[in-house]
Amino acid sequence: MTILVTGGAGFIGGNFVLDWLAQSEETVVNLDALTYAGNLDTLRSLRDKPQHVFIHGSIGDRPLVEKLLAEHRPRAVINFAAESHVDRSIHGPSDFIETNIVGTFNLLESVRGYWMGLSAEDKQAFRFLHVSTDEVYGTLSPQDPPFAETHRYEPNSPYSASKAASDHLVRAWHHTYGLPVLTTNCSNNYGPYHFPEKLIPLVILNALAGKPLPIYGDGQQVRDWLYVKDHCSAIRRVLEAGRLGETYNVGGWNEKANLQVVNTICAILDELKPRADGASYAAQIAFVQDRPGHDRRYAIDARKLERELGWKPAETFDSGIRKTVEWYLANPQWVENVASGHYRDWIDQQYGQIA
Ligand code: NAD
Ligand code: DAU
Repeated sequence: MTILVTGGAGFIGGNFVLDWLAQSEETVVNLDALTYAGNLDTLRSLRDKPQHVFIHGSIGDRPLVEKLLAEHRPRAVINFAAESHVDRSIHGPSDFIETNIVGTFNLLESVRGYWMGLSAEDKQAFRFLHVSTDEVYGTLSPQDPPFAETHRYEPNSPYSASKAASDHLVRAWHHTYGLPVLTTNCSNNYGPYHFPEKLIPLVILNALAGKPLPIYGDGQQVRDWLYVKDHCSAIRRVLEAGRLGETYNVGGWNEKANLQVVNTICAILDELKPRADGASYAAQIAFVQDRPGHDRRYAIDARKLERELGWKPAETFDSGIRKTVEWYLANPQWVENVASGHYRDWIDQQYGQIA
C-alpha cells in the first residue's frame, strides 16, 4: 500500500511523513517542489528508508503527477503543498494564486483521471485529503463563538483567499465528479522543523541570537495554537474514518494573544538558557508596524472531530511550547542550516541546482 503526500518537505508535511513512517510500513511518495520552505534536512533520517520515495516536482505538473499516480498507484493523496505565509502573500500574491489555486486545480484533475481508472473496489477505498486552514473563515471578535465547520467563508488575506478557493475546488470535485474528498481546516501549528519566518520559531531564534522580537501592532491578536504532531494525528484519523465530502475543523482549544505567546517563550528560555547578562529575553520585545488587514482573532471549534472520530489533542499549549523550545535548543545544526541557507546546499547536492 502507498500514499502520495504533497508538500512533505515543509513544516507540517515533513512532520506528517516522519510520524507516518515511524508507525507504518506503508510507502510514502513525497512530491515537493522544494520552494524556499521545502527543507530536505527535515527528512534526513529517512535517507536510507525504502518506504520514503522523494520526488522533486510540482503539484501543477500534470504529466509528472499522472506518471507518479500510474506508477505508484496510491490509495490516498494528502495535499499539504501550498504557499503558506501570510506576510509573503501580502508582498507577492501571485505565487499563492499559482500554487494554492491553479496547482490544486491541476492536482485535482490529475487525481480525478487516475481515480476514474481504478477498479470499483479501489475507487471506493480511495481518498483525497486536502489540508486547509482556519483562516478561510476570516476573523472573530472577542465575544464570538469559535469557528464551526458551518461558519461562512470570509477570507481576508491573499493567502487565506487562495486557500478558500482551493477548498471550494475540492468541494466541487466531490459534488460534481464524485471524487472521494476530505478537507481539514486547522488552526495555527507550532513544533519541530518550523521555518523561522513564522512567529514562534522566529521568536525563539531571534531571542537566542540577541535580536529584537518583533510584535505586530499591540500584540493582542489571538491565535489558537496546536502542536504539529496533534495536527498529524488528526489528519491520520480523518483519512482513516472521515465521512466523504465532509470538512473537519482541527484545533487545540489553546487561544493565546501573541504577546502572551512571546512572553511564555521568553520565560522558558530564561529558565533553560539564561542570558549572560541575567536579564530576561522579554527585554528584546519590540513593537513594530502591524500587518495590513491583520485578522484579530482565530479560534476553532473542534467538537465535530471529537464527536465523530474520537480525536483529541495530546498536548496542551504549556507542554507543546516547552517541547518546541527544547527541540530548537537541541537541534542547533538544523537551525544553523536554515538560518545560513545551507539547507539549500543539501538540496543542490542531492538534486542538482534547482530554481
Ligand atoms: P510550509 O510552507 O512549511 O510547506 C509547504 C511545502 O509545500 C514546502 O515544502 C514547499 O516546498 C511545498 N510546495 C510549495 N509549492 C509546491 C508545489 N507547487 N508543488 C509541490 N510542493 C510545493 O507550509 P506548512 O506550514 O507545512 O503548511 C502545510 C499546509 O497546511 C498548507 O496547505 C497550509 O495552508 C496548511 N496549514 C498550515 C498551518 C500552519 O500553522 N502552518 C495551519 C493550518 C493549515
Ligand atoms: O491559522 C492557521 C495559519 O497560521 C496557517 O494557515 C498559516 O499557513 C500559518 O502561517 C499561520 O498564519 P499566521 O499569520 O497566524 O502565523 P504567523 O506565525 O505568521 O503569525 C502568528 C501571529 O503573530 C499573527 O497574529 C501575526 C503575528 N506576528 C507574526 C510574525 C511573523 C507578529 O506579531 N510578529 C511577527 O514577526
